[in-house]
Amino acid sequence: MPPLRIAALVSAHSRGSNLQAIIDACKSGLVHGEVELVIGTRVDSPALERAADNGADTPVISPRKFAGDDNAYGEALNKALKSHDIGLICLAGYMRILPLPVVRAYAGRIMNIHPGLLPLFGGKGMFGENVHQAVLDSGMKVSGCTVHFVDENYDTGPIIVQTAVPVLEDDTASTLAARVLIEEHKNYPAAIRLFSEGRLSIEGKRVRVSEEVVRVVG
Ligand code: GRF
Repeated sequence: MPPLRIAALVSAHSRGSNLQAIIDACKSGLVHGEVELVIGTRVDSPALERAADNGADTPVISPRKFAGDDNAYGEALNKALKSHDIGLICLAGYMRILPLPVVRAYAGRIMNIHPGLLPLFGGKGMFGENVHQAVLDSGMKVSGCTVHFVDENYDTGPIIVQTAVPVLEDDTASTLAARVLIEEHKNYPAAIRLFSEGRLSIEGKRVRVSEEVVRVVG
């Protein structure tokens, strides 16, 4: 099977740590794939720098340029994605709602990672430390991360993998964020690996994961 052709979408302030975890997983062979394309919203993004250092094509497609015409922005994204023959899109710190033309063209082939246990603590405004502070304020004893398929709303698509971490007595939003981030870096590659192996199927809100096929040679 040819390697999965992966694109990532990042926003201006993305650090690119999840992107790096995906790149590393491709390099180590954990994921049979290649990060071919990383599309930014602004030139000055640390994630774009990381991507370029790793040989990905790194165009900037600024939503501002389309003056509120989300369809036109979406079509521009689709054009870049198609020209690279992309099989999977990974949102990696992409802070906007993905335009409908992209959601439609790549249904079932777009993933996002969220630094909380969806369907709790998701939705508009729930990003970065806001999520972790909301978890602390809620009194929850666990938090975690979620990799999910992307639909037309914020954080509502079918869940692929989740891992929980404890909330500790002396946690602040940033100590909790750091504990969750460690799991993010394992969960995103794990979800992409399942996808690349063709083991995911979507049934309504549920994602079914089929057994690993072990080939016995000899
Ligand atoms: C991560 O916390 C991820 O869960 C969220 O955006 C953040 C991106 O961080 N979607 P990084 O750019 O991958 O370091």
